[in-house]
Amino acid sequence: MKIEELEKVNVGITGTPIEYMPYMTKYLGGGKLYIKRDDLSGLALGGNKTRKLDYIVKYALDNGYTTLLTYGGVQTNHGRLTVAAAKKFGLKSILVLKGAKPDYLSGNLLLDRLMGTELYFVDTTSLDGDPEKDIKAKKFLKECSEKIIAEKEKQGEKVLDIPVGGQTIIGAAGYIQAVKEIMEQMKASNIKADYVVCGYGSTGTFSGLWAGAKYYNAPFKVIGVTIEPDYVNPNETADFINKISDFYGFGFKCTADELDIESGPENEPYGGTGYNMPDEVTWDYVKLMADKEAIILDPCYTGKVFHGFADMVKRGKFEKDKNAIFVNTGGAPGLWGKEQLDFANDLFWKDYKVGGVMKF
Ligand SMILES: Cc1ncc(COP(=O)(O)O)c(C=O)c1O
Repeated sequence: MKIEELEKVNVGITGTPIEYMPYMTKYLGGGKLYIKRDDLSGLALGGNKTRKLDYIVKYALDNGYTTLLTYGGVQTNHGRLTVAAAKKFGLKSILVLKGAKPDYLSGNLLLDRLMGTELYFVDTTSLDGDPEKDIKAKKFLKECSEKIIAEKEKQGEKVLDIPVGGQTIIGAAGYIQAVKEIMEQMKASNIKADYVVCGYGSTGTFSGLWAGAKYYNAPFKVIGVTIEPDYVNPNETADFINKISDFYGFGFKCTADELDIESGPENEPYGGTGYNMPDEVTWDYVKLMADKEAIILDPCYTGKVFHGFADMVKRGKFEKDKNAIFVNTGGAPGLWGKEQLDFANDLFWKDYKVGGVMKF
C-alpha cells in the first residue's frame, strides 16, 4: 500500500500553523524556537489524535463498522477525540477506561459525558500490592473488552477495537503525512528547522513523524520526549516503525539506537512522577509557556514534553543557532481534571497575593 494512496476523512483540521515563539526564544536562548499548533486541530478542543483518526475513521466507514471502541486512562485525550470523531461521522463509540469510576466529573471525562458516549470503568484497585498486578490487570481489561464487544455484536453492531492512543499502522499515516505538511509550511514560510520534538506516549506520533521524516527525506531530526517514567522500550518502537515501513513499502529498516528518545536526568525525569500524576516541575513548565507565549499546554503530556524541549535548549542539545519546532499535541482539557486542578490550586492559588479585592 502506497502512503499517498491511503484515503482519509477529515475529522478535524490539518494544516495547523507553525508559529515562531519570540519571547520563549529570547528567554531560553539558542536558535529560533517554533511551535506546531496541533492543539488547534479543530475537533472537540483538538489534539494529535485527530490526525490518526482521519485514517482510522475512513477505514471504519469503508469496512462497515458501526462503533468505535477504544481505551485509555480516565482522562484520555485519545478517548475524547475518538468519541468526537465517531459522532461527526454518525458512528457510535465506547470508552473502556482504566481506573475506578471517579465521584467527580471533570476534564476530558466531562467532555466524553457531554458527547454522549458509552463509558466503562475497569477497576483493578483490588489488585493493589499484588506483584503480578500489571499482568493480571491487562488480562482482565482484555476479558472486559471482549465481553463488551461480544454483547454489542449480539445487538448487531460491528465494533472496531482501536488500541490505546490509536496506535495502529493505519493511524500512523496521520503523522507520516504531517511531515509532508511541516516541510511544505517550512518552505512557504522560509523556516529552517533542524529538530522537531514531540511526545513519546503510546508512540504513534513519534513513530509516524520519524518514519515520515525518513521517507520524505526531511531536513530535520525527530526527537521524542517521554511522558511517563515507565515508557515504551525503544526496541518496540523500532519494530513498529519497521512494520510501518513494510506496510507502506518505504524500503528502510530502523534500529532502536537510531531513535532519539529523551527521558531527562534521573533526578528530574521529563516524564515526572507517573502517568498523569500531578507534579510541580511539569506545572512550572505549563506556567512558563502560558506566561511567555499565551499558549496553553497540559500537565499530562505537553507540559512534560516542553520540559524536555526547554531542557534540551538549555543544555545545548540543539547546537548553537539550530532551530527547533515543538509539537503541541493538545490535551488542555486535562488541565481541569480533578486531581490536576486540586494540585494547581495548592501551587498557584493558596499563597497567591492578588492585586487587591475591591468590595462594593
Ligand atoms: C495531548 C497528547 N500529547 C501527546 C500524546 C502522545 O502521543 P502518542 O500516544 O502518539 O505517543 C498523547 C497521547 O494520548 C496526548 O493525548
